[in-house]
Amino acid sequence: MSDLASNLSSGLAASGNTGGVLRRALAVLFRQGPSAPASAGRVAPAAASVAPAATPQAQTRQAGAVRFEAVGKTYRSAAGPVPALVAITLDIPAGGIFGIIGRSGAGKSSLLRTINRLEQPSSGRVWVDGQDISTFNDAQLVALRRRVGMIFQHFNLLSAKTVFDNVALPLRVAGWPEAAVRERVAELLALVGLQDKHSTYPGRLSGGQKQRVGIARALVHRPEILLCDEATSALDPETTQAILALLKRINQQLGLTIVLITHEMGVIREICDEVLVLERGHAVERGPVWRVFGQPQHDATRALLSPLAHALSDEVRAGLAANGERVIELRFTGEGGLSPDLQAIAALLGGPVRLLHGGVDRIQGHTHGQLLVSAPVGGPPPERLVAAGLAHQAQEIGHA
Ligand SMILES: Nc1ncnc2c1ncn2[C@@H]1O[C@H](COP(=O)(O)OP(=O)(O)OP(=O)(O)O)[C@@H](O)[C@H]1O
Ligand SMILES: [Mg+2]
Repeated sequence: MSDLASNLSSGLAASGNTGGVLRRALAVLFRQGPSAPASAGRVAPAAASVAPAATPQAQTRQAGAVRFEAVGKTYRSAAGPVPALVAITLDIPAGGIFGIIGRSGAGKSSLLRTINRLEQPSSGRVWVDGQDISTFNDAQLVALRRRVGMIFQHFNLLSAKTVFDNVALPLRVAGWPEAAVRERVAELLALVGLQDKHSTYPGRLSGGQKQRVGIARALVHRPEILLCDEATSALDPETTQAILALLKRINQQLGLTIVLITHEMGVIREICDEVLVLERGHAVERGPVWRVFGQPQHDATRALLSPLAHALSDEVRAGLAANGERVIELRFTGEGGLSPDLQAIAALLGGPVRLLHGGVDRIQGHTHGQLLVSAPVGGPPPERLVAAGLAHQAQEIGHA
């Protein structure tokens, strides 16, 4: 099925569609018939293809949970096969905010798009809400895409339709009565803070407002999962913060799972509970954000986080050499919620310390950060700081 058809069926519409594609999309949608209006609550999950009762999937079934089982994806291209995903096995728990990071081309979008089957894996299985979606027929896919909303970097709004009509479109396509459409759209525009923009056209909206329309439209069918592919990448930092706050509120108020791709590590730190790092199609690291950011294990993770790390400038190095000091790096990675006690650190290192660089932050209630300090040569080894509970890691990284 084309992306456009998929988008329409999940409450999304790409701009500039052609009649043929649209007709095909509508045909697929109407094969299943209209869905129930808002008063009926969530759209019922597709019936067939449920895992057998005795499997763990069936026992742990929970709306909004995703399981990847040895998922592989190889694209065919003129230059030969392109392996985009390699044996990805992992669970995304229901109700949280799950981040996916990785270098460009690592496979993030490919993985995300297997969740609503915009991308069909070449091998393995994807379970959504305890159902193996790889076996779904067209009608089941329509129902799946109503349970899995999606928002994009470039919003995908129809420029010739008002805000109201953009949000209403998927409901009208699904055959909702007009009164129910009006009620649901008004409810959603209030939720995203656009109640005064019903009749405005997208061309007159800011980027942040356009994304709010995108979010409202993605929520029309009360999805269990919201997929966000670079949803804040086109926005300025302040607007990004506002959209992140909205996503967090939606996650908490509606209890839906959010799966989010971003290149902005600050976004992950701000709202994600867990993060997955992809590297050349492999899942190389995964865990709570405070741990992965505090103690990155894989080179790819360290490279992605390097903009957050601080290097010592040549000027500072030269100053240290002149003073005959050693440079000690202290890391605070979370467990125990330690915050640096500079006086105790100086006492243990045997003299005055100077703070050269760094900072500490709180992520999910855990301290996270790095300090570079200089201390007199000849004092105790910095590892003692760890034994004394003054830092999670400490090492001498330079000696003048
Ligand atoms: N339709 C396609 N045909 C051929 N190759 C593709 C196709 N889609 C993606 N690829 C390739 O698969 C790999 C993974 O692509 P994907 O878009 O999933 O990466 P990504 O991590 O989302 O990258 P970015 O951060 O740049 O968006 C890349 O090498 C890409 O070139
Ligand atoms: Mg991508």
